[in-house]
Amino acid sequence: MNTDRIHAANIPAHIGIIMDGNGRWAKKRGQLRTQGHLEGLSRAKAIVQTASDMGIRYLTLYAFSTENWKRAAEEVSFIMGLVKQYLRSEFAFFRKNHIRIRHAGDMETLPPDIAGEIRGVCAETAAFPGLQVVLALNYGGRNELVRAVKRIVQEHTAAEHITEGCIGARLDNPDVPDPDLIIRTAGEFRTSNFLLWEAAYAEYYISDKLWPDWSAEDLAEAIRAYGNRDRRFGGVQQ
Ligand code: IPE
Ligand code: IPE
Ligand code: MG
Repeated sequence: MNTDRIHAANIPAHIGIIMDGNGRWAKKRGQLRTQGHLEGLSRAKAIVQTASDMGIRYLTLYAFSTENWKRAAEEVSFIMGLVKQYLRSEFAFFRKNHIRIRHAGDMETLPPDIAGEIRGVCAETAAFPGLQVVLALNYGGRNELVRAVKRIVQEHTAAEHITEGCIGARLDNPDVPDPDLIIRTAGEFRTSNFLLWEAAYAEYYISDKLWPDWSAEDLAEAIRAYGNRDRRFGGVQQ
């Protein structure tokens, strides 16, 4: 992989990836959608390794949305099973690379065994100082905001204390900085409910490639493209 042209200063601290196209990848090969998810998991592992090697600080992976429950029960349980197996079997890899696993999404409506597995791996890797991988599972940006609002109401917060900071502090991972770069694979130009609040000033990068076809070089290319963007945050170019 050729990453040497990427200037360290232009490396995003936080990358979010909407890993899309597993089903289409499988269909193209006359295979079941589940095969696409299996291949997608193997890509996710490879990209976590690459991001860790590159020194990325945070990587949020959109693995299952609050809307993905609409899919066939077999597909949903296959994805949940894959996640469980991955978290269980990769601890040695996380430890070796100092990778911390975190979660974004609604824990209350996840199957209890999956929620337990996530809580376990988050606790076991909590002190690892390397790349932080935020697993967005049963995640929806609107759902995250609804849960934040519920907390604010439960705390009897007065209207004058409701600020952007107050809302931001009640999101799932308030200490994680907003994403700098959001990548979506498989060519769709939509957010599909990913990090609605946090992505206010993220740079978007759409790749036509299906997620199971993604490689380390594709990530390097996305970061290179990001490095050439002019982020103004509403101000004027310096
Ligand atoms: C992304 O791939 C993975 C999940 C949403 C879980 P898809 O399963 O959405 O693949 P396509 O979009 O049908 O090709
Ligand atoms: C977004 O992909 C969710 C994940 C990648 C987990 P979808 O395939 O669910 O999005 P839509 O339905 O095409 O918007
Ligand atoms: Mg899709």
